[in-house]
Amino acid sequence: MSLVLENISKEYPGPGEIPTPALAGINLELENGRFTTVIGPSGCGKTTLLKIAAGLSRPTAGRVLLDGEEISAPTPKIGLVFQEFALFPWRNILKNIEFGLEIQGIKPPERRKQARELLRKTGLSGFENHFPRQLSEGMQQRVAIARTLATHPRVILMDEPFGALDSQTRNSMQEFLLKLFRDERPAILFVTHNIDEAVFLSQTVLGLSQRPGKIKADFSIELDYPKERTSTEFNRYRREILEFLDRERKSIADR
Ligand SMILES: Nc1ncnc2c1ncn2[C@@H]1O[C@H](COP(=O)(O)OP(=O)(O)OP(=O)(O)O)[C@@H](O)[C@H]1O
Ligand SMILES: [Mg+2]
Repeated sequence: MSLVLENISKEYPGPGEIPTPALAGINLELENGRFTTVIGPSGCGKTTLLKIAAGLSRPTAGRVLLDGEEISAPTPKIGLVFQEFALFPWRNILKNIEFGLEIQGIKPPERRKQARELLRKTGLSGFENHFPRQLSEGMQQRVAIARTLATHPRVILMDEPFGALDSQTRNSMQEFLLKLFRDERPAILFVTHNIDEAVFLSQTVLGLSQRPGKIKADFSIELDYPKERTSTEFNRYRREILEFLDRERKSIADR
């Protein structure tokens, strides 16, 4: 499966009829077995890009093609982990994770089994019968991730999914996601502000410019999984990306 973003631009209506350009001329191709991360200054259009890729927001110009077919609305083939997609407060944790499987018509014993397995993998065993409000923010985020992964989507879009987690949990979620990525080989488009996370997870890191976001840098991370965070090469990539972000930040400050 492939998701292609073709010449995407987006303008939001702004105050006083002056439009806010958020993205300009984005071309991107996501394929199964490719892990791509987008990094860039705050407000440069990363979330906008993911929403357009998901069919949740319409671009002002350009097209989004899933296996060659234009999409203009969300599809179950694309799994989303966005911070604003809260859990269902009236469903317990197990039932939250089962949601997508239920929609697919999978019978209760089977979907329960799969949901329990995901609970275990995300370190949430024992919380099956809790409700979202009874969990910490980081735990809720893990449930949201498990809920998305339950249906094995071939394309996964993730907007800062680990942002609310402490660094230990964050590292174990990164490892969990990589294991899933390597076992199931979906196409992943991931957004983070964390350079270490970007290098650790991805094969490609795209650097967006200040707003309106354009793809200004394309880092190909040529390290084999599992990556060694303390290696010299790992740190070389970190430094290159940091320098890119610093340049972008300064060019905003100089405007
Ligand atoms: N619904 C909206 N209506 C109007 N303007 C919007 C809307 N959503 C985003 N914008 C504007 O588009 C630009 C890009 O926003 P976006 O949320 O995509 O940035 P981002 O790169 O995800 O930022 P951050 O790193 O802070 O999450 C910003 O200038 C923002 O003000
Ligand atoms: Mg954002």
